[in-house]
Amino acid sequence: MNESYLLIEESKQLKGVLKVSGAKNAALPLMAATILTEEPCIIRNVPNLLDIKHMIELLTDMGKKIHQDKNTLYIEGPIKNKETREDIVRRMRASVLVMGPLIAKYKSGKVSMPGGCSIGARPIDQHLKAAKRMGVDIEIEQGFINLKASILNPIDFTFDVITVTGTENVLCMLSTIEEESILRNVAIEPEVINLVEALKQMGVDINIDEENRVATIKGSKYLKGFDIEVIPDRIEAGTFMVLAVATNSSVKIENVNVYHLKSIVDNLKLAGANVDILSKDSVLVSSKNSVINPLNIETSEYPGFPTDMQAQFMSLLSVAKGESSIVENIFENRFQHAQELARMGACITIHSKTAFVKGVERLKGAEVFSTDLRASAGLVIAGLMAEGKSIIRNIYHLDRGYDHIEQKLEKIGAKIKRVNA
Ligand code: EPZ
Repeated sequence: MNESYLLIEESKQLKGVLKVSGAKNAALPLMAATILTEEPCIIRNVPNLLDIKHMIELLTDMGKKIHQDKNTLYIEGPIKNKETREDIVRRMRASVLVMGPLIAKYKSGKVSMPGGCSIGARPIDQHLKAAKRMGVDIEIEQGFINLKASILNPIDFTFDVITVTGTENVLCMLSTIEEESILRNVAIEPEVINLVEALKQMGVDINIDEENRVATIKGSKYLKGFDIEVIPDRIEAGTFMVLAVATNSSVKIENVNVYHLKSIVDNLKLAGANVDILSKDSVLVSSKNSVINPLNIETSEYPGFPTDMQAQFMSLLSVAKGESSIVENIFENRFQHAQELARMGACITIHSKTAFVKGVERLKGAEVFSTDLRASAGLVIAGLMAEGKSIIRNIYHLDRGYDHIEQKLEKIGAKIKRVNA
């Protein structure tokens, strides 16, 4: 096996400051939305992640001129090639986010079907159902979606399921239709709202009634450029907060948006942590007395408990004083980290979409394999909590969503290092 891996040793009572990067899942739709205009767009606070590099490669391949200056992207120019390269889409299923802008701006496109991934089938039927309703002809052949439309009609459309990228794609699809459209049962994640801010700057008239999950949109034939700041990554922030509690540490976490962290903060406090909101963009997290209370958690769409935080909390609860339950309502196969935690001594049984976690005294270091982006973060937390040494393999998953996490953690005293193959 010649892949890089992380070597982690038990690390307790960490102290210091962790800075959160921009949100990957906000940056990706913002980058795709630049297809809607040839004018210069500026995207600030972009995280330095593999997925961002893949989106830069994809948009460049399609013809956009992209200049990167540290964490700021300058993107402009027309699309010359409306076909997404299959090898890039295979590496990053969020490439499907270019579909909406291609339809709105060019009324045509050829987008490779995003494969499923380890956490589920990840269908895009809702994206396509809305496009068809708008008058887009859709043909799927050889793993590609061929899209063509002569005119795009306004719609009054209700999503059958709340979908983050589905909402983002359809908002973009509607952004050049001047008559009013209505979308119902939309996702209201902060990452969606970040995109809405950019679309408004471009000249799209959007109103989102978050209470009722209803969006009304009036597009514009000609869309301008935008200059936007990517919101802080609430999942990276949450990961660091859980890590602080799990290692009995006291850590200040900066560059957060505290308004996006409510369900994470509430659950950490229930688990027995101290969480001090120091300002609108910083929190201090510490564990009161290293006793973790068991929790009953159910993942749900924002503002509920995020599915992307489920693995991290499972690691924490594996040493709680009692039995916890975690219900995964969003994805059909997002408990793979449970078997890896079991290799470290965790006691977890799964019935359908519920994981029952019986707290044990200690975890023991082991060699484990990450299976998806957020599961790997949960394993990093487990490795820091466990007695002895752990090795985490398949860390390319981690690099997709965390900007050099081991460097950030080493700075606060964690014994973690990347061993390159
Ligand atoms: C986004 O994925 C995020 N990715 C995910 O983060 C996140 O876990 C997920 O939202 C849920 O919050 C990005 O934003 C790039 P969904 P998305 O469409 O949009 C079903 C990461 O790597 N569904 O909200 O793909 C679907 O199967 C990832 O950071 C349909 O049935 O998720 C799932 O069960 C992990 N039909 C549920 O809806 C559709 O057309 C929610 O999926 C679309 C979705």
